[in-house]
Amino acid sequence: MNPVRIIEGIREGDKLPPGSLRSFMEGYLRGEVEEYQMSAFLMAVVFRGLSDDQLSELVSVMLYSGAVLDLSHLPVPRVDKHSTGGVGDKVSLVLAPLAAECGLAVPMMSGRGLGHTGGTLDKLESIPGFRTDLSLSEFQEGLEADGVSMIGQTREIAPLDRRLYELRSVSGTVASIPLIAASIMSKKLAEGLNGLVLDVKVGSGAFLPREADALELARTMVSIGAAHGVATRARLTAMDRPLGRTVGNAVEVQEAVECLRGEGPDDLRTVVVELVAEMIVAAEMGGSAADEHGADRDLESGRERARASLDSGGALERFRRLVERQGGDPRALDDPTRLPQPSVRQDVPSPRSGFVHSVEPVRLGRAVVEMGGGRTRLGQRIDPSVGFSGIVQPGDAVEEGAPLVTVHAASASDARAALSVVRDSVAVEQESGPAPLPLLGRRILPGSP
Ligand code: URA
Repeated sequence: MNPVRIIEGIREGDKLPPGSLRSFMEGYLRGEVEEYQMSAFLMAVVFRGLSDDQLSELVSVMLYSGAVLDLSHLPVPRVDKHSTGGVGDKVSLVLAPLAAECGLAVPMMSGRGLGHTGGTLDKLESIPGFRTDLSLSEFQEGLEADGVSMIGQTREIAPLDRRLYELRSVSGTVASIPLIAASIMSKKLAEGLNGLVLDVKVGSGAFLPREADALELARTMVSIGAAHGVATRARLTAMDRPLGRTVGNAVEVQEAVECLRGEGPDDLRTVVVELVAEMIVAAEMGGSAADEHGADRDLESGRERARASLDSGGALERFRRLVERQGGDPRALDDPTRLPQPSVRQDVPSPRSGFVHSVEPVRLGRAVVEMGGGRTRLGQRIDPSVGFSGIVQPGDAVEEGAPLVTVHAASASDARAALSVVRDSVAVEQESGPAPLPLLGRRILPGSP
């Protein structure tokens, strides 16, 4: 195998001999393909894509780079959710314990921050002591005890995705339908699931902002899932503004706990409830496509179950047990001052009275990375205390001088820089503005157009 020839082949859109991507990837795992060659390969895929055969070869080599779990001994259906990545996207922190409270087993394997988006692992690790590096037996014990475990890609599960994910995050090679699809589906298929729900983000803060691309990504992943016998369905959700009112790590944990307590914010609660309802339906229906009315009825009863488990406090108690079991300090759930605290907090005042027209998610996400809340180099340590809270949303009415956002920073100079990003990211006008994207967009089921 000549790695240069494979990179050139992808660059030129050639039909490479079967097995080429497999040998390239296996060579990388053995240390025979260098990081710079893999970066060049990834960039070639970003520009030229992959054929269907190449994509299924990539998914297969990524999936079988590690173990595939057999969780068939669990007495309840195993269903997970994965998001394509967003700003302020703390859905998993609420959804995983909630879905377990609704009677599913949720073997959730998540990622770290990627590009301008945050990652569930980084958020969870802002709870003092929380471990995301459980052994597989600890992971399984959690599932057996509480129906939920939340970990990162281990050395055992999809190790190739773990390495590629880190490299893509720092080499500008995230935004690619085949790379995102292979990354997500390889680790999800390794979880030994019955069902999978994909939250595909659309809008300016998504890796693929255009609806047509988001739909193609959704269809690609749903058909990979079906080809591997997992009931997979996708839902488009809005990412033309941050989700909820916080962006960062510790601040997002605090907001997720508020949602688990049955409080808001409304957009987060709506997305979580909808995706849990989809998980319940996926568990009950498997891969079969119901008639519209049947699906609607089932979804509504799933929503009701999800809302009831949030409002009863059951989901929060389940999260508390998960935090304790994974070594975290459960007191941080009742007392947010036990989460990492920033040195500086500063409000950004509105320049005028009027209505919020837009809140640009990518800029806010990048500002969190700049403040140290995300990575620009492989293996970098992050500062979980930095970020934004109290973020206004499009359509909100504001008074001149009232806070648009509160900046959480490690120093006064970082806060100043973030302040100017916020001023450029939040547009306030006197008249009310255009409607943002609908929070919940199209559903993609197996075989749907
Ligand atoms: N989430 C993943 O796990 N991988 C991607 O490539 C993008 C989002």
